Amino acid sequence: MSPRIQAPRGTYDVLPDDAARRDAVEAAARRILGGAGYGRIETPAFEATELFARGVGASTDIVQKEMYTFEDGGGRSLTLRPEGTAPICRAYVEHGMSRLPQPVRFWYFESFFRYERAQAGRYRQFWQLGAEAIGSADPLVDAECILLLAELLDAVGVREVRLRLSSLGTAETRAVYREELQAYLRRHEDQLSEEVRNRIDLNPLRAFDADHPGTREVMRGAPLLLDRLSDEDAEHFAAVRALLDDADLQYELDPTLVRGLDYYARTLFEFTSDALGAQSGVAGGGRYDGLIEQLGGPATPAVGFAAGIERMLLAAGEHPVAAMPVDLYVAYATDGARHPAFGIAREARRAGLAAQVELAGRSLKGQLRQAGRLGARFVAIVGDDGATLRDMESGEQEDVEPGRVIPLVLRREKSL
Ligand code: HAM
Repeated sequence: MSPRIQAPRGTYDVLPDDAARRDAVEAAARRILGGAGYGRIETPAFEATELFARGVGASTDIVQKEMYTFEDGGGRSLTLRPEGTAPICRAYVEHGMSRLPQPVRFWYFESFFRYERAQAGRYRQFWQLGAEAIGSADPLVDAECILLLAELLDAVGVREVRLRLSSLGTAETRAVYREELQAYLRRHEDQLSEEVRNRIDLNPLRAFDADHPGTREVMRGAPLLLDRLSDEDAEHFAAVRALLDDADLQYELDPTLVRGLDYYARTLFEFTSDALGAQSGVAGGGRYDGLIEQLGGPATPAVGFAAGIERMLLAAGEHPVAAMPVDLYVAYATDGARHPAFGIAREARRAGLAAQVELAGRSLKGQLRQAGRLGARFVAIVGDDGATLRDMESGEQEDVEPGRVIPLVLRREKSL
């Protein structure tokens, strides 16, 4: 026997039973985000490597270690998208969308690729539901994004949700603060972990994220960016918070909140769920006012978020999503009735009914059992000289002309 081939590590198959819950998440997104004026966008699964190197940031783990990068037949360096924000900004610039009324708002439900250590809630191909609002610096947009995300998590049934909120200020504020933090870290270099020490120049903010006890001790006394915001940034952040307070949304201010992407400026947020283990981050996002310019477009403020589908579903637990109801199951009593039964099911679907026909050659008894398993509302048993229509709820049945099966089911469905 040939060796069996398995799905690559860190990937999974979405089987029909799992698909129903994912469909429900997508439907919630369409309702909530579509209703708020966000339009669906899809971008290619791969992009020029340069987009992520510039967009996500050369010093991030994503760019340094996690990208699926390859050369295509024409010698171009391409990368499977590790996230959606940079590609959407690329599309915004490429299609000249700064000419449209601003902000232009998008939502997406797509898969992304990161070469990470696979574990529960962490995959190498994973799905995100995200939204981006491009072209407005108004704090109303930040607050709207956060509130829409909270509503989505609630609609999906994500349990034990916590929101952490911070502000990073603008790039200039951060540059000054960065120097202050670097000087502080250098003064305490001997107590820091090697990894943090090596990153003082490249990414000193990540020191707040470290698990190393010595580093954590040092970080307790570190200067905080939130205390260094310019007046304008502090005002912007206060406005976002006031809107969230008005909406009665609970959050924790977390001045040490760090996210693994370099494009953020000003508002930064993350939703975690205590129902999850180590990978507790369910969703995150923030403002990224400098990104579009960095990608060669006009200076354009923007804000957005993404939620991990796998983590949302894990944190929602097993609340079952109803399977697609079956209106009509068409069984046949004789071999000669197979074709007419097949035809009735087809016609019924055209008439808008969810209809199935026996496909496995079961005995009549087996067919009725299968109809029961599917929870079919009506069963038509087609024979050589007519049909019998059975109402599975009341148990009543009557002999009918085969041509009358569909109108009868339609009429009764309507009167239910
Ligand atoms: P991110 O925090 O890298 O942000 O990812 C968002 C969410 O995707 C995470 O909270 C997590 O639920 C999920 N996620 C990330 N990596 C994995 C993985 N390996 N396996 C399973 N789930 C994962 C972004 O990607 C930004 N683009 C979000 C954003 C949009 N910011 C502004 N706009």
